[in-house]
Amino acid sequence: MSGPLILGIETSCDETGVGLVRGCELLGDEVASSVDQHARFGGVVPEVASRAHLEAMTPTVRRALDSAGVALSDVDAIAVTAGPGLAGALLVGVSAAKAYAMALGKPLYGVNHLVGHVAVDQLEHGPLPKPAIALLVSGGHTSLLLVNDLATDVVSLGDTVDDAAGEAYDKVARLLELPYPGGPPIDKAAQRGNPKAIRFPRGKWGDGTYDFSFSGLKTAVARHVEDADRGGEPLVVADIAAAFQESVVDVLTRKAVDACVEHGVSTLVISGGVAANSSLRELARQRCQEAGIELRVPRPRLCTDNGAMIAALGAEVVAAGLPPSTLDLATDTSLPV
Ligand code: KG4
Ligand code: ZN
Repeated sequence: MSGPLILGIETSCDETGVGLVRGCELLGDEVASSVDQHARFGGVVPEVASRAHLEAMTPTVRRALDSAGVALSDVDAIAVTAGPGLAGALLVGVSAAKAYAMALGKPLYGVNHLVGHVAVDQLEHGPLPKPAIALLVSGGHTSLLLVNDLATDVVSLGDTVDDAAGEAYDKVARLLELPYPGGPPIDKAAQRGNPKAIRFPRGKWGDGTYDFSFSGLKTAVARHVEDADRGGEPLVVADIAAAFQESVVDVLTRKAVDACVEHGVSTLVISGGVAANSSLRELARQRCQEAGIELRVPRPRLCTDNGAMIAALGAEVVAAGLPPSTLDLATDTSLPV
């Protein structure tokens, strides 16, 4: 084993994640989720998430150390999500990371959550070729990034202008009376449906940008459901799910592949909770193959929020020789890459 032992702490949304990493080696990865507490609200309630982080933090650190077979005193540096994310949730993680850094006398590194989603791929597939394009798709973000260097040079190419892709899944699931989070039940229903049964709009398709928009699509689904309720065409949930899903994954994969071609990049990483989607994985695989692009999708466990991704990015930052954060490290709910 080589390189410093990095403890990563993630609390940007509803997962308390703690990871232990050396270089590209994953040693420990424990996640405590408050998702069940948010389910009845159909989305994450920030106050509830913050309280859950506070309760879960110390036990999750303990579990991660135990599973990695290391002691807290073995840790060489602490990396923590400084943003973007929910204000109160981020504060819990950063406060805990400061306390560990102070108590251990080890350096603290505040890192970017979005870049962590890309860095985590190294734990599964080894060092990321430079440059790479990354498509991050989750409940909180939908971003296309040009990654020249994980620690020092990541450029945002585009973002969602309204809802995140996962958020669109969650909202459409609610319209279809499917449970929260909506991604898995829509993915499942879509497999029985006909994606051509309805033609839903493709937001920002062919607009010459790498931005995304999903709110028009959500409104189109809502109208379709309202029409059915008023006695129009009967509601076929599987068809709506399949047509909605096709609209989302068509735009995501088209823009991601276009970004690779335009920037002469031959590696695409797809990460975030929506990367678990079967149709997204399949279409990305086909389109990358056609374009001669290597597709990297970490296993679902690493795609969703976790502490290992923050530790993986921390390892890169330490290896790049960047200065540690000071103990007045602040959180930033909209931290740019
Ligand atoms: O990365 P993640 O666990 O948390 C953050 O939002 O940061 O992503 C959660 C999102 C939810 O919106 C969920 O509906 C979506 O990922 N998701 C999926 C699938 N599994 C989870 N979306 C589409 N298809 C799936 N199979
Ligand atoms: Zn995330």
